[in-house]
Amino acid sequence: MKNRRDFLATSLAVMGAGTLSGKTMAQTPDPAPMPVTQPYSDAAALCAMPGNVATARFPEGFFWGTATASYQIEGAWNVDGKGESIWDRFSHTRGKVKGGDTGDVACDSYHRYAEDIALMKRLNQKSCRFSLAWTRIQPDGTGAANQKGLDHYSRFVDALLEAGIRPSCTLYHWDLPQALEDKGGWPNRDLMNYFADYAGIVAKALGDRVKTWAIFNEPWVFTFIGYQQGDHAPGLKNGDLAWRAAHVVNLAQGQAFRAMKAMSPDALIGGAYNMSPGTPASDSAADRAAVARFQAVNELFLYPAIHGRYPKAFKGKPPAAMGIKPGDGKIMRAPLDWIGINYYFRQMVADAPLRQSKYVGYNSWMPAEGPLTYIGWEVWPRGLYDIVMTVARAYKLPIEITENGASYADGPLPGGRVPDARRLAYLKAHLAELARAIADGAPVRGYHAWSLLDNFEWSHGYSQCFGLTWVDVRTQQRILKDSGLWYGRVAASGRLDV
Ligand code: FCB
Repeated sequence: MKNRRDFLATSLAVMGAGTLSGKTMAQTPDPAPMPVTQPYSDAAALCAMPGNVATARFPEGFFWGTATASYQIEGAWNVDGKGESIWDRFSHTRGKVKGGDTGDVACDSYHRYAEDIALMKRLNQKSCRFSLAWTRIQPDGTGAANQKGLDHYSRFVDALLEAGIRPSCTLYHWDLPQALEDKGGWPNRDLMNYFADYAGIVAKALGDRVKTWAIFNEPWVFTFIGYQQGDHAPGLKNGDLAWRAAHVVNLAQGQAFRAMKAMSPDALIGGAYNMSPGTPASDSAADRAAVARFQAVNELFLYPAIHGRYPKAFKGKPPAAMGIKPGDGKIMRAPLDWIGINYYFRQMVADAPLRQSKYVGYNSWMPAEGPLTYIGWEVWPRGLYDIVMTVARAYKLPIEITENGASYADGPLPGGRVPDARRLAYLKAHLAELARAIADGAPVRGYHAWSLLDNFEWSHGYSQCFGLTWVDVRTQQRILKDSGLWYGRVAASGRLDV
């Protein structure tokens, strides 16, 4: 089973048209190996200033939150008129997901959301980041809304507000209606208008109560991993299609932004972008310049929204496969109100010759200087400081951390407690680095731990657990882990030494 670490290496190599020659990619079996150089409990040692844990403070009104996504938790995949999504199709296809796992039931949150909100309340949460399943609202992606789907999310939002929790709603966390994939999926330019129709429907239905929105979750991941690398739905392996999908997603982001503002003028609209700070592989000017190009890929869906064009940092012209037309810059442009950053790991970056795509020109890979989590991702807390400062300097917009978290396989002891010291150390170290960024002037107003619940982790199925809450997928029993209980105290006090 390939994982995200492999794909990053392979797909960025293709994007950058370089080779991995001279670089030995660490092979990451699933499950991942045990720690390499640092004991897990020492995550704070990987902070630039480990002592910061005791002094870290967060602003009044900080949005302490957790994040989830529709397909990963809801289940009820064919209930109340919901249509089939590409993740339903993908997980129902033999060999695509580890162990044959599916999201058919997942955490059954479609039926158990009141229980989930009670957990958030117990953790003193101020913000809940969740996503809508497009197929509950428009079963085949176009046409009239399915009232039952809208009613479900309306009840969910009301219950959050009742609990004093801010709803932060993501329109699209990867579960495209299969009917639209059958029309060509994201590489089809028509999707920008279908998506804008959907965005307008939900802004109209929920915009009186939901004020904070993210349009796309990790557009780089669902375009390049879905259409080029093939480990995510729809599982295609075509680099040209991925670049084309990326451009259509940029167009769709702009169209959706305008459709939502038309329905709900006071909506605060942003996006949740996966970003890794790049560390130059050497001190050479070439490698340092490669990091700027790598950063431009971090911003592949942010820069066009703000500036109405693609970043100039790349070596060549945008690939012809993107199908850019005159006037597209204006369509892509969407003056976002805020920026969401999903941070999981940093990457090393080296200059590479332009060959295939003639565009990006670097190689990148994940180092293993810090310990690895169970999914094989390096723990590197100071990377959160680095990426937040980079984005804060470049954009001058409010920032929220929309995802950050770690996979470890701790389960309940007899008696029920779930001692997950490594996740607690991970969160503490990352939050210390975030507090340092805030102290240095970064306008960060919220943090969302991924995730409230152990859930369906895409092609890894249920084998990777990121939750603050342990979930028994057979009985749906939920138990707060030690890290969750600690996070609840942090949310109540704004301090990490609790
Ligand atoms: C992010 C995804 C999220 C989850 C975490 C672990 O890339 O947005 O759904 O899979 O990784």
